[in-house]
Amino acid sequence: MHEMFSFSSLFSLTRLVRRAQQPQRVWPSSPDVHYILPSDAKEKQRLELQHSLLRRALCDGKSVLAPIILKPGDKVLDSGTGSGAWILSLAEEVPPSISLTAIDIQSNIFPRSFPKNVVFSIHSVTELPGVWTNSYSLANQRVLYAALTEPQWSAALSEIYRVLAPGGWVQIIEGSTISTHMGPYSEKIGNILGKLYAHKGLVIDVAKRLPDMLKREGFINVHSDTRALPLGAWADTDGLELRDNLVSVYSAMRGPIFETGGFGLVSSEREYDDLLDGLAKEWDNGGDIPASKDWTAMYAQKPAI
Ligand SMILES: C[S@@+](CC[C@H](N)C(=O)[O-])C[C@H]1O[C@@H](n2cnc3c(N)ncnc32)[C@H](O)[C@@H]1O
Repeated sequence: MHEMFSFSSLFSLTRLVRRAQQPQRVWPSSPDVHYILPSDAKEKQRLELQHSLLRRALCDGKSVLAPIILKPGDKVLDSGTGSGAWILSLAEEVPPSISLTAIDIQSNIFPRSFPKNVVFSIHSVTELPGVWTNSYSLANQRVLYAALTEPQWSAALSEIYRVLAPGGWVQIIEGSTISTHMGPYSEKIGNILGKLYAHKGLVIDVAKRLPDMLKREGFINVHSDTRALPLGAWADTDGLELRDNLVSVYSAMRGPIFETGGFGLVSSEREYDDLLDGLAKEWDNGGDIPASKDWTAMYAQKPAI
């Protein structure tokens, strides 16, 4: 689906998203849900583009990172599937005898059509169905660092461990904050995000902490690979795509940011838009230490017995 959007249309879309006041965007509001991004058509487009960027730049074009060869009858779970981009890519690569289950707390951006061996359903990763115990060969979870509090991360890992078959694998991809703060705009957005994550109880450095959290949960063979993906025009297509993706994310976070009055750091949406414009320019310039964002890909195994 992502082939439908050209780079130039993404760039215009991103600018449009930033400049619009976005009254139509809707953020989840249940007390148990801490997720700070909206779930709508714009977010669906962003996730599709992020999927192709991460697949290319972080996963060397692969869907399955864990050392497993899926065989007929195996079951795969995608937790926090969003638009289903990952599970639909996998569906193109595996035989229909493998059953693919995708869950999310909301169904707004689930795909409308998908192969018969794929099922989409509404569940929280913190509370998966009891009948799923010991049944999945592989569980995938990607980019929930804007969604789960510390107790929810523990619950999620424990639930994923429970539903994996003995010997099954989990793979997790998470981003961290901008790794090189190379100017005043980067520093300011970093401060705003720090306040927002703390206010929502989210774990801003979860990517670094996950390997230990996985071990504590009982997982073995924990593998983690962090790459600094380039950010800004200095790094051509990859840098431009990551820049537009991140600016789009920060723009989409304005709802929760202004819900609390901007944390005393930003006082109007216009000021916030100017900050995002300055940020993009700061990243574009490169400089002595060009901007990048760390992404971590992990996998780990549930012991066979
Ligand atoms: C940033 S999106 C990532 C979507 C997808 N994993 C991807 O990489 O394209 C995060 C998704 O997690 C979902 N989510 C948030 N909290 C969740 C929870 N407790 N259980 C399951 N999904 C959740 C959100 O609704 C959203 O669709």
